[in-house]
Amino acid sequence: MSERLFRVWRGGADGGLSEYRVEVNEGEVVLDALHRLQATQAPDLAVRWNCKAGKCGSCSMEINGMPRLSCMTRMSVFAEDETVTVTPLRTFPVIRDLVCDVSFNYDKAREIPSFTPDPATEPGDFRMAQVDVERSQEFRKCIECFLCNSVCHVIRDHEENQPHFSGPRYLMRVAELEMHPEDTADRRAIAQDEFGLGYCNITKCCTEVCPEGIHITDNALIPMKERVADRRYDPLVWLGSKIGVR
Ligand code: SF4
Ligand code: F3S
Ligand code: FES
Repeated sequence: MSERLFRVWRGGADGGLSEYRVEVNEGEVVLDALHRLQATQAPDLAVRWNCKAGKCGSCSMEINGMPRLSCMTRMSVFAEDETVTVTPLRTFPVIRDLVCDVSFNYDKAREIPSFTPDPATEPGDFRMAQVDVERSQEFRKCIECFLCNSVCHVIRDHEENQPHFSGPRYLMRVAELEMHPEDTADRRAIAQDEFGLGYCNITKCCTEVCPEGIHITDNALIPMKERVADRRYDPLVWLGSKIGVR
């Protein structure tokens, strides 16, 4: 057991960092220390969590300047004398303490045209290739922690881009539907114009922080960019757009 120094964001957007010394035991994670802080010194500390197993996506926060799951970040990754600074996710409005408002994500989710199979296909008739099943399964591992959205420099360093860029999580969802072999909708225009795909310059930071190990950039964003480019630079599509045919 040892006592460690924490700096924790308290209050809303105009709040600040408060210092606490918190007891930490071997094998504990940052969320354990925050719970002990709540139990012993700061009973009104707002912190969101649910599963404590890296599966619900609720306990996302910035720990020493990196978006991370607090339930999966072991205290042992920090040096004994290192101060652990904990703040809310940077790219979302803070509600209080470590809790922020991620409703922007759900608004974007609702804007995505839903799965659109061909109505002429009878239920049970469509057969998916295994490669298509596996592609969707990878994307479906997402726990909606929004670490990817918080690390992406497009909005992390440029607040003015936030209304125009949905972030990697929902661009991945658009890509998942666009690449689904049974889906008939064309989501390339919405990806580019409404979700801001063009802002992504494939730095891959989103992929690096994803706790589910999803290859967001390589398997979703880059293929989606290729599809958008095919549409834009295909001379037949260009001609079609000029004469009103999609
Ligand atoms: Fe979290 Fe990964 Fe889903 Fe992004 S893609 S929300 S980092 S699980
Ligand atoms: Fe951002 Fe990921 Fe693209 S970090 S720039 S969305 S590759
Ligand atoms: Fe569920 Fe951390 S508490 S992912």
